[in-house]
Amino acid sequence: MNLLPKDKNGCPYLQLAPMEGVGDRCFRKSMASIGGFDEAVRDFLRVPSNAHVKSLAKVYEADELAPIPLAAQIMGSDPDLMAQMAQELVQKGALRIDVNCGCPSNTVTGRGAGSSLLKDPNVLLEVAAAVVRAVTIPVTLKMRSGYEDISLFDENVLAAQESGVCYITLHPRTKVDGYGPPARWDLIARAKSLLKIPLVGNGDILTVNDAVTMLRTTGCDGLMIGRGSIINPFIFHQIRAHYSQIPYELKWEKLLGFLDTFMAETPNDFSAKLRVNKLKQLLGFIFKSNPRLMEKRQQVLSALHQDHETFLAFAMALLKESWNFSNR
Ligand SMILES: Cc1cc2nc3c(=O)[nH]c(=O)nc-3n(C[C@H](O)[C@H](O)[C@H](O)COP(=O)(O)O)c2cc1C
Repeated sequence: MNLLPKDKNGCPYLQLAPMEGVGDRCFRKSMASIGGFDEAVRDFLRVPSNAHVKSLAKVYEADELAPIPLAAQIMGSDPDLMAQMAQELVQKGALRIDVNCGCPSNTVTGRGAGSSLLKDPNVLLEVAAAVVRAVTIPVTLKMRSGYEDISLFDENVLAAQESGVCYITLHPRTKVDGYGPPARWDLIARAKSLLKIPLVGNGDILTVNDAVTMLRTTGCDGLMIGRGSIINPFIFHQIRAHYSQIPYELKWEKLLGFLDTFMAETPNDFSAKLRVNKLKQLLGFIFKSNPRLMEKRQQVLSALHQDHETFLAFAMALLKESWNFSNR
């Protein structure tokens, strides 16, 4: 089965990246209201060594974005617990499980999980293979290019393949890089040349041109986009439009729907302050790409104390005035 099918116009399979904290349920639902991507990956579910696996698996909802599938991602270093967690997620309806070998956070790596798995290809192999053996649904793996450096890059990529995962997603920065230096797309090309299984390319796709260039220069089989989708929630449609050669008609109502969903999905038990903070985070990304909008960010945020509808009308008027779609 081809897990990364192209659309009828030859557009590669497009995925919304997992982004713990920023790309939460509110954001994923807002993105789904705009659409354009084939699948999303949920941010990681941590599997600590003494986990109550069942209760952790509860927060995953396979049909959260229906009809768009939402893959589950798990992060940990204990092969048995990872396998148990995978089985719980299958019970919850997961159609695909992704093994996180990339999270750079020190609290995570301190426990040997996330990007720490890249320190030893044998450990990576053991953890991923345990998940593959535990379930019958597709298991995939998302990795960075290394921990401190890329000296084990080839070994890690090949260990991932040997574990039996269906495909790999590569974010070509090391743990030490964080999000600093540009993603090394040459390493996506390198991985592609080493692998027999498919590869999803990820990292620094901010425009349609970036997407097309990554595909052309690396030969990867699918694309995953994270921050680029927060800055421009229409990016998936615009990439698709490039392949269909029918321009994507940008509609303000869609952006309104995006913000509306975001407000509506913010949990009711969130205090007004938390709500503002969440929106601040989202608008921070959207506005960052546009200095004219950045000037107006404070105005939008001060309008947040008004009721939902008044706020949306106000925010939209500002966005409409300042967001130059033609630059995208
Ligand atoms: C705030 C934030 C949270 C992230 N959380 C996760 C995560 O839970 N799991 C994961 O595999 N990657 C996570 N990532 C990495 C992204 O999925 C992606 O690999 C990275 O941002 C590079 O892609 P981009 O340039 O398109 O954003 C996170 C990234 C950010 C910025």
